[in-house]
Amino acid sequence: MCGIVGYVGNQECADLLVDGLRRLEYRGYDSAGLATLVRSDGEKRPIEVLRAVGKLGNLVAALRERPLKGTTGIGHTRWATHGRPTEVNAHPHVAGPIALVHNGIIENHLALKRELSAEGVKFSSDTDTEMVAHLIHREAKAGHELFVAVKRALAQVHGAYAVAVIDQRQPDRIVVAKNASPLVIGFGDGEMFAASDIPAVLPYTNRVLLLEDGEVGLLTADGIQVESLDGKKVEREPRTITWSAAQAEKGGFKHFMLKEIHEQPRAIEDTLRGRVDLANGDIIASEIGLDEATVAKVQRVYFIACGTSSHATLYGRQLVESLAGIPSQCELASEFVGRDPVIGPTDLVVAVSQSGETLDTLAALKVAKEKGAQLLAIANVIHSAIPRAAGAAFYTHAGPEIGVASTKCFTTQLAACLLLAVYLGRRNGKLSKEKAQELLQHTVELPHHMRATLALDDLVRDLARPLASSHSALFLGRGVSFPIAVEGALKLKEISYIHAEGYAAGEMKHGPIALIDANMPVIAVMPDDRSYEKIASNVQEARARDGVVIAIATRGNSEIGAIANKVIYVPKVDPLLSPFITSIPLQLLSYYVADFKGTDVDQPRNLAKTVTVE
Ligand code: G6P
Repeated sequence: MCGIVGYVGNQECADLLVDGLRRLEYRGYDSAGLATLVRSDGEKRPIEVLRAVGKLGNLVAALRERPLKGTTGIGHTRWATHGRPTEVNAHPHVAGPIALVHNGIIENHLALKRELSAEGVKFSSDTDTEMVAHLIHREAKAGHELFVAVKRALAQVHGAYAVAVIDQRQPDRIVVAKNASPLVIGFGDGEMFAASDIPAVLPYTNRVLLLEDGEVGLLTADGIQVESLDGKKVEREPRTITWSAAQAEKGGFKHFMLKEIHEQPRAIEDTLRGRVDLANGDIIASEIGLDEATVAKVQRVYFIACGTSSHATLYGRQLVESLAGIPSQCELASEFVGRDPVIGPTDLVVAVSQSGETLDTLAALKVAKEKGAQLLAIANVIHSAIPRAAGAAFYTHAGPEIGVASTKCFTTQLAACLLLAVYLGRRNGKLSKEKAQELLQHTVELPHHMRATLALDDLVRDLARPLASSHSALFLGRGVSFPIAVEGALKLKEISYIHAEGYAAGEMKHGPIALIDANMPVIAVMPDDRSYEKIASNVQEARARDGVVIAIATRGNSEIGAIANKVIYVPKVDPLLSPFITSIPLQLLSYYVADFKGTDVDQPRNLAKTVTVE
C-alpha cells in the first residue's frame, strides 16, 4: 500500500526523496508526491508541493519542469483507498502552513469531516487523509507548535496511520507518528530519514529505529525525540541492520510469498478495520458497497471467480447459506460465460478477484449485468476493471501482493465473504444480534490466532522436506475445510510443480483412494468441527492403505496423534472461522516444499498474477 519517506538534513532533498520512493515501489501505488521546505536562507518561504498521477517517472518529469528546493521534505506513493487516483487526491495534503503524508485508513474521517465542515473548512480532495492535515492546522491556529499540534490532532483520530508532517513555521523539523502502519527512522550523520520500510533508508544508513504504535517522533538534523501520544518520553536505541538492500525489500524474508504469508494477520486487520460494529453485532453498511434496497431484493447469491479466488467463494457460499439462509452458488467465471446461466434481478452476483482485472471474471460479470442481476465486486486493487464494471465494491485492503501464488489476498477474500454473509444475515433477520456479536468478536480475535499459527513456521518446514521428493499429493477436507484443501493443493502445484489434488474427503472413496499407497502423501484438514468424526474415518481409510497422512488438527485433540503419521496442531477458533487458521500451515508447506526443490517461488513458470486473456 502507500509508501512514506521523509528527510531533514543539509542536502537538497527532492531527488533523495524520489530515490526513497523508488525503493518503496514494490508496495504498489497509483500516484506520488513531494513537499519540501527551505530551512534557512533568511526569508520565510511557503511549502512547495508537487504531485503526479501514475508512475514515479511522471513525478520526476514534473520535477524537471519545476524543481523543488529545500533540505527538509516528505514524499509519498499513494495506493488509492478513499478517492480515485487523481492529482488532487495524491499526497502530500496541505492545510495552512502544514503538509502531511499518510499511510493507513482514518476510520472516523466522516465524523471529522462533518465537524470541520461545520467550522467552515473547505476540502480539496476525497481522501480520509486530508482531515488529519486540517486537524493539525486547527491546533496550529490555536497556537501550538508542530510537535504538540500533531499529538493533539492524532488524539482525535481513530484508525491506522503512519504520518510525516512538515510545518512552514518550523522548517527545521519533521514530525512523524505511527499506529498500525509501519514507520522506520534512519539515523544519518547530521541528517535523519523516515520511511515506511527499511530499504528506503538503507543506502544512506543502516542504523534504524522502528517506531511503535502510539509513538510520535520529532526529527531534526541532529536526531529524534520520541514520545507517546500522551506526552511520555520514550528512550530506545537504534539498531543496526545487517541485511542487504535486496533482502530488506522483502523485509528480511527470502521470498515475497513468505513475507506475504507472514503479513496475513495485519492484512486481515486491515480488511476488518472500520467495518465491524461489535456493539450492534453488524457490519457498517456504508462499507459493504450495497444499499439496503438492493439487498432487500436478493433471493440468491451467485459467486463468480477464477483460481484461488474461486476457492474463497466456496467458503463464501457456505457462509451465505448458514448465516443468511440465502441459497447460494459458486461458479468458475470461464464456465459461467460458456453457457446460458439463469439469473435475474433477484440474484446478487458477487465477482471475487484479487487483481480486479481477470478477463474471465470481467466477462462473466458483464453477462450477469446484461441479465439484470444485482452486482458486487470483492477486489483488492482499487478502481480496477471488475469493481468499476460492478459499480459496487468491497475492497479487501490486503495491500499489494507480489508473489504470483496468492496467500494474503486469499485469506482477506475469506474475510470479505464473511462480512458480506453477516451483513446479509443481519438485514434479513436470519442472524440474531447476539449470534453476530459472538461471531464478530471471534473474528476480530483471528489475527491473534493467526500470529500464533505462523509461529509453526519451523515445524512445517521440517515436515515439508520429505514431501519435496513426492510426485503427487492428496489434500482432503470437509465442510469449511473443503475449500482450504482445494486451495492447499493448488498452492502446491503452482509453486513446486508437484501434482496435487484437493478433494472433498467424502469423495475419496469414489476414486482417489485407488491412488493411495506408501508414496502418496495425504494432507487432511480436520479441525474440531461437526465434520471431524467423518474425516477422521477417511484418514483411517487412507492409513489402512499405507497412505502417509499429515493432519492439520486443533490443539488439544488427543486422538489424532495415534491415527495420523504427523500432526500440525493449530489454535482453537470458532469452527466457522477455522479456514483462516488452517490455510496458514498449508501455505507454509507449499512454500517450503518449493523452496527445497529450488523452484522460482515468487514467479512460478507459466503463471501470471493478472490474467487478461480468456
Ligand atoms: C491467476 C493468479 C491466481 C489467481 C487467479 C485469479 O491465475 O495467478 O493467483 O487466483 O489468476 O485472479 P484474480 O485476480 O481474479 O483473483
